[in-house]
Amino acid sequence: MAGCSKWLQHGKYWFLVCLVLCLLGLVIVLVINDASIDVMQRTITSHRKNLGRYSKDAIAPLLSSMLGGSKTAAELKDGEKTSINGSFFRSTLEGILDNDFSQAPELSIPQMVIEERKYRHDDQFEKYLKCPTTVRKKMLDNPNIRSKFVSDIPILMWDKHFNASEFRRLTKYKGVNGWRDINYTDVRGMVGHLNSPNNQYMFDDRLRKAQVPSNDCITCAIIGNGGILKDSGKGAEIDAHDYVFRVNAALTKGFEKDVGKKTSFYCFTLITLHNTLALRHKTKFEIPKGDENLRYLFFADSDWTYTYLAAALSGKPLPKSTGKYHRGPPAFPKQLTADNVKVIHPDFERYLKWSWVNSSAQHKDVHRPTTGAIMLLAALHTCDQVSIYGFAGSYSAYSEHYYDKEYSKHVNYANHDNNAENKLWQYLDEQGIVNLYRRTPKEGK
Ligand SMILES: *[C@@H]1O[C@H](CO)[C@@H](O)[C@H](O)[C@H]1NC(C)=O
Ligand SMILES: *[C@@H]1O[C@H](CO)[C@@H](O)[C@H](O)[C@H]1NC(C)=O
Ligand SMILES: *[C@@H]1O[C@H](CO)[C@@H](O)[C@H](O)[C@H]1NC(C)=O
Ligand SMILES: *[C@@H]1O[C@H](CO)[C@@H](O)[C@H](O)[C@H]1NC(C)=O
Repeated sequence: MAGCSKWLQHGKYWFLVCLVLCLLGLVIVLVINDASIDVMQRTITSHRKNLGRYSKDAIAPLLSSMLGGSKTAAELKDGEKTSINGSFFRSTLEGILDNDFSQAPELSIPQMVIEERKYRHDDQFEKYLKCPTTVRKKMLDNPNIRSKFVSDIPILMWDKHFNASEFRRLTKYKGVNGWRDINYTDVRGMVGHLNSPNNQYMFDDRLRKAQVPSNDCITCAIIGNGGILKDSGKGAEIDAHDYVFRVNAALTKGFEKDVGKKTSFYCFTLITLHNTLALRHKTKFEIPKGDENLRYLFFADSDWTYTYLAAALSGKPLPKSTGKYHRGPPAFPKQLTADNVKVIHPDFERYLKWSWVNSSAQHKDVHRPTTGAIMLLAALHTCDQVSIYGFAGSYSAYSEHYYDKEYSKHVNYANHDNNAENKLWQYLDEQGIVNLYRRTPKEGK
């Protein structure tokens, strides 16, 4: 009896174990099944939601591409593909994201004052902090300068900076400070084409070839066009720097002894470039061609920069400026490509206005740093050692430009504050941040 009841007990035991296991298995199968149905349903709902934002005739190709493979579905996940690359993006997403790229509402003045000082942050600066004596370390160490200096401000702009949320954020700001009143197709057309690693770093040649050992310091000469350079004899000293930045009518031919002949970065806005070229018959200025290392540094100052670069970088006919002037598009001496073009980020322009060029006109809409100041401050945020020539000379002692054939008087324009800028360059020199070329004016001009 005892053995039998033991067997029965065992049987009951095994039966129970089996029952429990079976139930457990069933539950697991149901849960997994349920979960997968749930995932599927959620996926479908989210696709539906995304599709709801697209125009109707775009849905058919979208749907078929979604069903075609997981890659496309993944690319569509946030409806915010950032980079224009590949036929998928062009053929499928072109023109269907309109509803995503709405402009931010216009802000009231008090809101604007707060918002203007909000910037994105970028780890790009880490690449520029390797030199032990870099000017950025000096700025961080100097209590007077530290408060002005944001080390992780974005400096250059490239394709990853374009998506719906960035578009909305930057359409809060006008003019050079953002994308207000710029058509998103044009912004995307330009920013989306900045898809070379060269667009990300000022000194792409070094960074890409990893030629920056920890103690390698980059020296830069920043050349303004001031009359103080005439008869300076600084040409060889300027050319001895690793990189030379020049701006607008950057004439070197015939002025080599005073200003050097090397140009690594040619800086301008399309409008200053147009104005500079308009005087070509007098100055004989031509846009520098340089060698394969020359980079064109654009400061976007109007929607024209966006339409122009969007066209230039995709090999399309170059547009005139919009508005009443209809300026003809400047022709560059070589094909503009994502590799030889760099564009300053609108956050950087806004930051310069509020943090660096402390002008009494700062609160005026039109006020912004001069093209020369943007160039100089961009260099200060990327070079390790900065030498400045042709800036902050006495306006009465020197002609406006080093290349003027006869004395030309300085003119102040309402959108710039030359005096505030000149004080800043002198202050940075006195603080040991930069080397500013100065000289005691001789008699006459
Ligand atoms: C763009 O597409 C080409 C070809 O598919 C690829 O080789 C390249 O890496 C892509 N570039 C970027 C920035 O995604
Ligand atoms: C949009 O771009 C910015 C800048 O690159 C990035 O910080 C942000 O995460 C992007 N947003 C989305 C939703 O991809
Ligand atoms: C934006 O520009 C594109 C092409 O330049 C044009 O087709 C479109 O109508 C413009 N959109 C708006 C809202 O102005
Ligand atoms: C700007 O200048 C004003 C006086 O002109 C001064 O009170 C203020 O502290 C300055 N701000 C900065 C950031 O230097």
